[in-house]
Amino acid sequence: METVLIAILVRNKGHTLPYFLSYLHKLDYPKDRISLWIRSDHNIDDSIDVLEKWLNAYKHLYHSVHSVLERQGSSLRGEEGVAHWPLSRYRHVIPLRESALHTARYMWADYLWVLDCDVFITNPNTLKELVRKKFPIVAPALRSDGLYSNFWCGMSNEFYYMRTEDYGPILNRKKKGCFSVPMVHSSVLIDLRIKATDNLTYDPQTLRGYSGPVDDIITFARSANMSGINMTVCNDEIYGYVMVPLEKDDPIHYDLIQLRNLKLEILIDGPPPEVDPLLEQFVREAHEPPIPVNKTFMINLRRRPDRRTRMLNSFEELRLEVETIDAVDGRQVLEVIISYCKSRETGLDESEHKLKVLEPIYLF
Ligand SMILES: *[C@@H]1O[C@H](CO)[C@@H](O)[C@H](O)[C@H]1NC(C)=O
Ligand SMILES: *[C@@H]1O[C@H](CO)[C@@H](O)[C@H](O)[C@H]1NC(C)=O
Ligand SMILES: *[C@@H]1O[C@H](CO)[C@@H](O)[C@H](O)[C@H]1NC(C)=O
Repeated sequence: METVLIAILVRNKGHTLPYFLSYLHKLDYPKDRISLWIRSDHNIDDSIDVLEKWLNAYKHLYHSVHSVLERQGSSLRGEEGVAHWPLSRYRHVIPLRESALHTARYMWADYLWVLDCDVFITNPNTLKELVRKKFPIVAPALRSDGLYSNFWCGMSNEFYYMRTEDYGPILNRKKKGCFSVPMVHSSVLIDLRIKATDNLTYDPQTLRGYSGPVDDIITFARSANMSGINMTVCNDEIYGYVMVPLEKDDPIHYDLIQLRNLKLEILIDGPPPEVDPLLEQFVREAHEPPIPVNKTFMINLRRRPDRRTRMLNSFEELRLEVETIDAVDGRQVLEVIISYCKSRETGLDESEHKLKVLEPIYLF
């Protein structure tokens, strides 16, 4: 089984970490083939408490853990808020990413998985599946609660995001498979055994001939392109979800609302997100004024318990008190009428009965 170093940078993500770590831990991949590389600094929240609690309980299960958790420092020079990315912040992150890349190259790792902690890998087969695909650089297409995702289908001449016609169909899985794209980020698996990946870098100063912005992911994407390596995004399965990044002036509590919205999104296709009991104490709720209605009702057919459960889970997430009313099941009514008619008449077969019974209903 291939060895993987998972590199995780954490900053002010105490609210997403309980989910992130719970999903990470549930990956169906031998933990003794996984090493973790974790860096966290300049937090104003409890990120490090969450990491320490989780690491203390589980780190012995992994092949090795390289973690540096720094409690001092709260903001970088020029930062105006948690979601603000001045140059100093890129200059802080770039050497960290570069260091993960070097660590992975010079240790036993076959793969480096660069994974952001606002990504929820809900599909436990993700790592196995991505390794099996044998691409030099591959990312699972991640869903958000909007048009945001972790891949681009177009890059402008200035190396920024450019929307193209391919984006929508891949995002919405109208087209399914694996696609070459100019950018993947947030969850990127790199096959380090491929020689050409030796020249990959996050550092604009290392990349000869690079004229783009000081930005870790753009530099990395360009370095892949300049090394002749495709970046691939796969949407053949639903692999996971990603938080929409905050805008520059958004306060940190706005991220709790985004988190709740993403949890609702997760409920559409799968079971509710579960947090490891060990981390439950760190789960935080979005505080918003209640929706100003007196009473909410749900009408649901008894024979669709899947829908009922999904809606009840959503109401719970929204802290909404809802009264559920069983719908009148048209199909059952019809069956009762048909069997009644059958008992009265003979000589008609079932489809004729149905037609006879349906006629007045259609007219109505
Ligand atoms: C990169 O992707 C393109 C388009 O999918 C493909 O034609 C090409 O062969 C790929 N290159 C390599 C080196 O795999
Ligand atoms: C890496 O870059 C150097 C300098 O540009 C080049 O000579 C070398 O062939 C590249 N190596 C690979 C494996 O692409
Ligand atoms: C590199 O970028 C150019 C221009 O966008 C593109 O045509 C080419 O296919 C890319 N090569 C790889 C290997 O991604």
